[in-house]
Amino acid sequence: MPILTLPTTPFTDQKPGTSGLRKKVSVFSQKNYLENFVQALFDVLPDATGLTLVVGGDGRFYNRVAVQTILRMAAAKGYARVLVGQGGILSTPAVSAVIRATGASGGIVLSASHNPGGPDGDFGIKYNIANGGPAPEKVTDAVFARSREVRELRTSDAADISLDVLGSSSIEGMEVLVIDPVVQYADLMRKLFDFDAIRALFASGFRLRFDAMHAVGGPYAKAILEGELGAPAGTVVNAVPLEDFGGLHPDPNPVNAEDLIAHLFADNAPDMGAASDGDADRNMVVGRRFVVSPSDSLAVLAAHAKLVPGYRAGLAGVARSMPTSTAVDRVAASLGIPCFETPTGWKFFGNLLDADRVTLCGEESYGTGSSHVREKDGLWAVLFWINLLAVTGKSVEALVRELWTTHGRCVYSRHDYEAIPTDKADTLMAGLRGQLATLPGTTVAGCAIAFADDFSYTDPVDGSVSSKQGIRIGLKDGSRVVFRLSGTGTEGATLRVYLERHEPDATRHDLDAQLALQPLVHLAETVAQIRTLTGMDQPSVMT
Ligand code: G1P
Ligand code: ZN
Repeated sequence: MPILTLPTTPFTDQKPGTSGLRKKVSVFSQKNYLENFVQALFDVLPDATGLTLVVGGDGRFYNRVAVQTILRMAAAKGYARVLVGQGGILSTPAVSAVIRATGASGGIVLSASHNPGGPDGDFGIKYNIANGGPAPEKVTDAVFARSREVRELRTSDAADISLDVLGSSSIEGMEVLVIDPVVQYADLMRKLFDFDAIRALFASGFRLRFDAMHAVGGPYAKAILEGELGAPAGTVVNAVPLEDFGGLHPDPNPVNAEDLIAHLFADNAPDMGAASDGDADRNMVVGRRFVVSPSDSLAVLAAHAKLVPGYRAGLAGVARSMPTSTAVDRVAASLGIPCFETPTGWKFFGNLLDADRVTLCGEESYGTGSSHVREKDGLWAVLFWINLLAVTGKSVEALVRELWTTHGRCVYSRHDYEAIPTDKADTLMAGLRGQLATLPGTTVAGCAIAFADDFSYTDPVDGSVSSKQGIRIGLKDGSRVVFRLSGTGTEGATLRVYLERHEPDATRHDLDAQLALQPLVHLAETVAQIRTLTGMDQPSVMT
């Protein structure tokens, strides 16, 4: 079984976005497409002698083929050992947990997160570094630069490894250890949460419906919730990961998880609903007849963190992505801890977590996490909520209403315009950028504008600057509208419009969010000319 050097021709489209390289399966399955990216990565990484690599994915179509390819190339790179999840499966937070628990030098995550899977769906790959988090931009930029030059692939001609049997085998002297995907992750959850209190809650008749959306969260949720915490069998639904997620869109929001919402709004609804996405890093939490916004969820967790064993000592600080609502800022102010505002994308939290500047962080896009790993973590957030319900004896709705009573409600919504031609989207953003200087001080569509800028972030730990991270328009009353283009879509461009308004008056907390945000929708339309430029009358998705 020799190591081979094979000629290749570079692809020019392998620029990773905020979550790695994401493309259609039809693109990834072109000859040498995956190989070129992996070679570019391995060329950029230092010598691998003695090092361990973690490999796993969300089980979507092409996952198994990709794992075998990566194993052969890792052997040629000279890794001492690769830890791979059984069946090629590891959730994204589990990859992070395994890297950190084993002292691995990094890991490769195979996923396109919440994007649809299957032969016509999406595939993705990203590299995580030794802290367990996504590689920083200087690494991903270097990989992209290298991907345009790569002319040789180094691989082995070894046969496929059996991924289904736990245990050790080898390729070219590199050990391949097939591990149980859940064990290390479950160990970590046991350290953070009061499993006895949660067990007692389930024993008292508490009912949860966890929708794993036929994605990788299923095995984790089943093992921990049903296997260990005594939740009745059937608590976790759609628990078996499928290569095409059963044809569904594994994105836990009220639109894509409508079945879960229906159950939580039905007669005899369970006490709590939850869902996770394709790679199990996102979460949605639903109360009985009560949908929780991700921004509010982060704020509730921050407000009550000390009730949970892993966070008993309090939080060093919190962080949220810029478009996420300011609910957590208000909680942080009342706790007297810092709150950081970062660009969209999980990687910006890594430095703050590593430097112990923050303990909890989250995004409006159904991502919540903490210093326990360096990825967002769906099941972790759900366990956090259940732990809070167990020790407070309150309902999901009661905890959110308490937040609103104390801090006012941040009425919030995100409007997505999907699959816009890229040139139109660029024109729209350029049009907004052109108005930044003149908007402040004016009144547009009845809204008095206080400031307008293109968000720029200076990392407080390493001083690196990330500019052009989204257009913000702030009103005199504290409301805001944010515009940015998605970095994770695979078809044309997606415009995201984020709308936020603070409502201190408790008698108005039951306002319908979409109605309450109408003035901001008009402002957005007037300044961005969305209808004219995109030809779309309405957003494709509102969350
Ligand atoms: C989206 C979300 C962002 C999240 C990312 C990866 O990115 O908006 O918050 O970090 O997915 O899950 P976007 O498509 O907006 O670039
Ligand atoms: Zn995800």
